[in-house]
Amino acid sequence: MNLLERKKSLRTELKRRRASVSEDKRKKMSQQIFTFLHEIDEFNQATSLFCYISYQSEVDTHQLINSILRKGLDLAVPKILGPTEMIAVPLLDLADLKPDKMGILTPLSKQIASGPYDVVITPGLGFTMMGERLGYGRGYYDKWFASNQVGLKIGIAFELQVVEELPIEKTDIALDMLVTEKRILDFRC
Ligand SMILES: Nc1ncnc2c1ncn2[C@@H]1O[C@H](COP(=O)(O)OP(=O)(O)OP(=O)(O)O)[C@@H](O)[C@H]1O
Ligand SMILES: [Mg+2]
Repeated sequence: MNLLERKKSLRTELKRRRASVSEDKRKKMSQQIFTFLHEIDEFNQATSLFCYISYQSEVDTHQLINSILRKGLDLAVPKILGPTEMIAVPLLDLADLKPDKMGILTPLSKQIASGPYDVVITPGLGFTMMGERLGYGRGYYDKWFASNQVGLKIGIAFELQVVEELPIEKTDIALDMLVTEKRILDFRC
């Protein structure tokens, strides 16, 4: 299997693994991840954040988004514009989100947030204990990280998404931290 095929087959396996967890258990694990995030100084001190809006079996970010908005912090969320482009759009209210073509809640606005971001909460399918990440296969986050100023890239995932190793390309951008329901990993030291 070449690298792209290995990525593809791992994505299938990891999607299946994540979807096999009950919704109730995913809610509880997401709650623990939310609690752990608040043990990170840079997260607590952040005034400008970017956070993905959870979809299906991903770590739930609705509570996190609500909490960021209630604190009056600057928040931007992803909006997919095409097969290769993701932009960050400012979000002021959860009510501004509507399902996009894929059913993912997205702001209607196409206004591009200016950044920079103190913290980015990053989704993914697989993660290693070195900070490597396997996403959904469009390179949206790799490209976005390459052209945006970000203080701290935090991945959030369930422990079952942590794997020994991942097939990695030159364009894959590693994370600074990973938070699961079991632990907080810091790859910077
Ligand atoms: N900065 C970049 N410039 C050009 N192409 C890129 C860049 N980053 C990634 N790509 C390309 O995008 C494609 C998909 O990348 P990859 O398989 O790493 O996706 P992913 O990280 O799993 O997805 P996502 O970030 O959307 O969750 C690859 O062909 C990769 O070479
Ligand atoms: Mg990648």
